[in-house]
Amino acid sequence: MTVLLRPRRLRTNPAMRRLVAETRLHARDLVLPMFVKEGIDAPHPIASMPGVVQHSEASFPGAVREALAAGVGGIMLFGIPAVRDAAGSAGTDPDGVLQRALRTARSIVDSEVAAGTSQGLVVMADTCLDEFTDHGHCGVLDDQGRVDNDATLPVYAAMAVEQARAGADVVAPSGMMDGQVAVIRDALDDAGFGDVAILAYSAKYASAFYGPFREAVDSALQGDRRTYQMDAANGREGEREADIDLAEGADMVMVKPAGSYLDVLARVAERSDVPVAAYQVSGEYAMIEAAAANGWIDRRGAILESVLGIRRAGANVVLTYWATEIAAWLAADA
Ligand code: PBG
Repeated sequence: MTVLLRPRRLRTNPAMRRLVAETRLHARDLVLPMFVKEGIDAPHPIASMPGVVQHSEASFPGAVREALAAGVGGIMLFGIPAVRDAAGSAGTDPDGVLQRALRTARSIVDSEVAAGTSQGLVVMADTCLDEFTDHGHCGVLDDQGRVDNDATLPVYAAMAVEQARAGADVVAPSGMMDGQVAVIRDALDDAGFGDVAILAYSAKYASAFYGPFREAVDSALQGDRRTYQMDAANGREGEREADIDLAEGADMVMVKPAGSYLDVLARVAERSDVPVAAYQVSGEYAMIEAAAANGWIDRRGAILESVLGIRRAGANVVLTYWATEIAAWLAADA
């Protein structure tokens, strides 16, 4: 007699489904990206990212404390300076807005950990020039207006050192300049920051899904980033980028965006012997929020499914604008 195989048996009730779930979400796997803007006195909503704000320097500490209380694993900080120039000087200024935000976050985290009121979280900094340049590109330009890879490298190195000095546990080069991980590693080591880790945005694609982020950072960019960010058509090249960053000393690698690149994420996770992160970007956030606001999808269900899918594909760490909210849901469910 042939046996009818019944996988449905393990789906019969919630307790059974909960027991056999292969992939689980934990607050500690989530990283919250945060925007801090210089010179505003109240948080500024980002229209294309309902629920996400540009923090003022006064509203930012409260959001860090919320993330800590919710138990999220880390925060990724972006700074929006009041003044931009061609060289992106505010990015390397020891007292620039991002460095100030890092110092604030560092002291909040350290004091809560010392007081035993939280387990802490990892403070990360975006290491890139696009928020700081008046042309909005991720690097400095040559005399013909092209992004100059090799002239950008020392600027990234200086920026990473300032971020480390301001208290970053992790610097995250996201500009897709060749050689960026190696120069940053060298500079950090030379400056005595051997313990500061590098999360490399290794396979970062030129993506339409970054649209709302441009509003989030008041981006000055005209045109696109296709001469440095990757072509959506290429998966094998994503693996190569990750290999190069690992060879240059990256401690973790990232695939970005997440949702449309789950195959790349799975391939990179398969071949990397370091933790792999994925960034659920602004457009992924905006699409779910917009559909949910219209009543077209179940908001919570879609959010959890989207993040679970990213974890299932192989991400150890997920950057998501819902990090604090998801963490609170998970705590309530536990
Ligand atoms: C570059 C950077 C970008 C994002 C993160 N880091 C923008 C870009 O590359 O154009 C996008 C994040 C998002 O869309 O949520 N500093």
